[in-house]
Amino acid sequence: MSNLINIIKNRRSTRAFIEGKLPPREQIEQIVEAALWAPSGMGKQLWHFSVIYNAEKSLQLAKAVAKASNRGAEYNFYKAPVQIIVSYKRDEQHAFLDGSAAMQNILLMAQDLGLGSCWINQIRDCCDDTEVRQLLTSYGVPKDHVVICSAAIGYIEKETNPKPRMENTVSFND
Ligand SMILES: Cc1cc2nc3c(=O)[nH]c(=O)nc-3n(C[C@H](O)[C@H](O)[C@H](O)COP(=O)(O)O)c2cc1C
Repeated sequence: MSNLINIIKNRRSTRAFIEGKLPPREQIEQIVEAALWAPSGMGKQLWHFSVIYNAEKSLQLAKAVAKASNRGAEYNFYKAPVQIIVSYKRDEQHAFLDGSAAMQNILLMAQDLGLGSCWINQIRDCCDDTEVRQLLTSYGVPKDHVVICSAAIGYIEKETNPKPRMENTVSFND
């Protein structure tokens, strides 16, 4: 098997990160570089990647998200010390498609570097909450952007078992 298919098949959603242990900054920069090379509709690239490279700030955002979306106080992005927030210019046709393509590059690059990652959906629905938005702005999310998703990244504390893939989801025509 090629290296790429191994990376794709071995990537899992990590839901337990080693608390407070930051990966090297260069690795996070490599992950962001992978995001920048994702495809985008009509090549518009109207995205922005805001990196929180700080366990305390990541937790602060998780707490604000928990408050805005009525989650329990223990909500903590699985203790990941890094969050990469994928945002996109509001009301753009390809926002969610482009953002998701970038996100997949982020997750696969993290896997290639031996890091755990998890797609986080929670910021999306509350990104216009006043307290959440204030934090997002302070982390560099442009004011005219919506959050598409974010990636929790860090070292894996507990491995995730693979979820079996559904059958009969492919039609092959020749
Ligand atoms: C659109 C989308 C939203 C997701 N949101 C979350 C989330 O908020 N929290 C979470 O733990 N996992 C989230 N996931 C991860 C999925 O639960 C996970 O990919 C799926 O269970 C398959 O497991 P695997 O990633 O280990 O292959 C999301 C995945 C996608 C594609």
